[in-house]
Amino acid sequence: MLNSSQVVLPQIARQRLARLQARSARIGVIGLGYVGLPLSLLLAQAGFKVTGFDIDARKVEELQAGRSYILRILHAEIEGARRQGFTATTDFSRLADQDAILLCVPTPLNEHHEPDLSFVENTAKAAAPWVREGQLVVLESTTYPGTTEELLVPLLEAGNTQGLKVQGNGVPAESGVFYVAFSPEREDPGNVTVARRDIPKVVGGHEAIATELAATLYEGIFARAVRVSSTRVAEMTKLLENIYRCVNIALVNELKLLSLRMGVDIWEVIDAAATKPFGFQPFYPGPGLGGHCIPIDPFYLSWKAREYDFNTRFIELAGEVNEAMPAHVVQYVAIALNQHKKSMNGARILMLGMAYKKDIDDLRESPSLTVIELLRELGAEVVYNDPYFPTVGRGRHYNLNMSSTPLTNLDRFDCVLIMTDHTDYDYRAIVNESKLIVDTRNATKGIASEKIVRC
Ligand SMILES: NC(=O)c1ccc[n+]([C@@H]2O[C@H](COP(=O)([O-])OP(=O)(O)OC[C@H]3O[C@@H](n4cnc5c(N)ncnc54)[C@H](O)[C@@H]3O)[C@@H](O)[C@H]2O)c1
Repeated sequence: MLNSSQVVLPQIARQRLARLQARSARIGVIGLGYVGLPLSLLLAQAGFKVTGFDIDARKVEELQAGRSYILRILHAEIEGARRQGFTATTDFSRLADQDAILLCVPTPLNEHHEPDLSFVENTAKAAAPWVREGQLVVLESTTYPGTTEELLVPLLEAGNTQGLKVQGNGVPAESGVFYVAFSPEREDPGNVTVARRDIPKVVGGHEAIATELAATLYEGIFARAVRVSSTRVAEMTKLLENIYRCVNIALVNELKLLSLRMGVDIWEVIDAAATKPFGFQPFYPGPGLGGHCIPIDPFYLSWKAREYDFNTRFIELAGEVNEAMPAHVVQYVAIALNQHKKSMNGARILMLGMAYKKDIDDLRESPSLTVIELLRELGAEVVYNDPYFPTVGRGRHYNLNMSSTPLTNLDRFDCVLIMTDHTDYDYRAIVNESKLIVDTRNATKGIASEKIVRC
């Protein structure tokens, strides 16, 4: 791989590089969700002139009015960014004015558990006519290795009205080209231990000039950019990180099931193992995977692997173990109720926590949704409490249409089921007031009570 001093930059790239270094560059961010909005704010704070693009007119209106629609982002942060020149729009023609364009659109799975790249495709098609000579386009959405080169680049070239081509084949062209790179987002929602700025940013360009431009851009907002040799390496890096988490979570989930049978407290075991100063990183069991990343991203790789007649067995096995966890929770609720001479049919159950992990306002892929549906199918009457969600609309399969129940008179419920260990809950008070508690997160750690069933 070339290092920055070895990259030969043509005039058009040198101009962009200078603007990126001086932070006078204009940056367009497409997709103003959990990734794109905080990224836009970081860029604006650093002095870049940022324009956010989204197809959701409601989000654009909110931002233009100086308001946030993500709980952990304060209105004041949007107002501050607006004072720095941040603006949002649904008008893609304004992409033509940008020095760099960052794509932060969703990459979910479809109903057959296969990559749904329609958001990336639609964005590329909408952006292509407005790409200009010397511009840098960076894909940030998590995806399988090859997406940038096989999908994004052809769509951008085909739709470009000026006939521009992505710079490639080792030719540092002086005209007629734009630059493309991939740089994965590594945000960990709710994690307050590492400042976003201190998370190194991995960058892989279609060729070395693109890598250099993208790395320079990110060095304006992150403490460190990690240059890799290609877009594929950058794409695969993100997947390795998420597969590593997915497989390790599956491992502790499986060991939890065994430990429950053996009467061993798996959380105590993990805490003890974590005292080893090398070679062990703790992962914790739970009621199932949630969020936009860990339950989804690994399957982008298993899908792509089939093209190479390759079976990603670790990913498949981890998926199988993790996806079985909600059913395991339901089984434990049934067993716990049974011990109290109650049947699941007709049981009144209060679920604590809808978010897929603690202290965040993100419901995507949350196992709580699956567990509610499974409990209801067995005839339980389920209500929930979550300070982050006053209401919940659609679940996995049904419209749940629920509102958060106040945390009062807990003894009217046959069972209180802890699905998310939000910090704000007073677990001691909850245990005291409830008849029966099923705890999937070890939130009641240190509280000794016959009423608690940990699973
Ligand atoms: N949320 C996370 O913590 C996280 C962390 C790392 C990586 N990622 C990855 O980042 C990507 C974005 O995730 P997110 O959580 O920000 O998603 P999100 O759903 O919160 O936001 C995506 C935004 O893109 C907009 N959008 C969709 N199609 C569009 C189009 N054609 N043109 C313009 N805007 C469009 C949507 O309206 C939405 O505002 C995904 O690939 C995800 O896997 C997310």
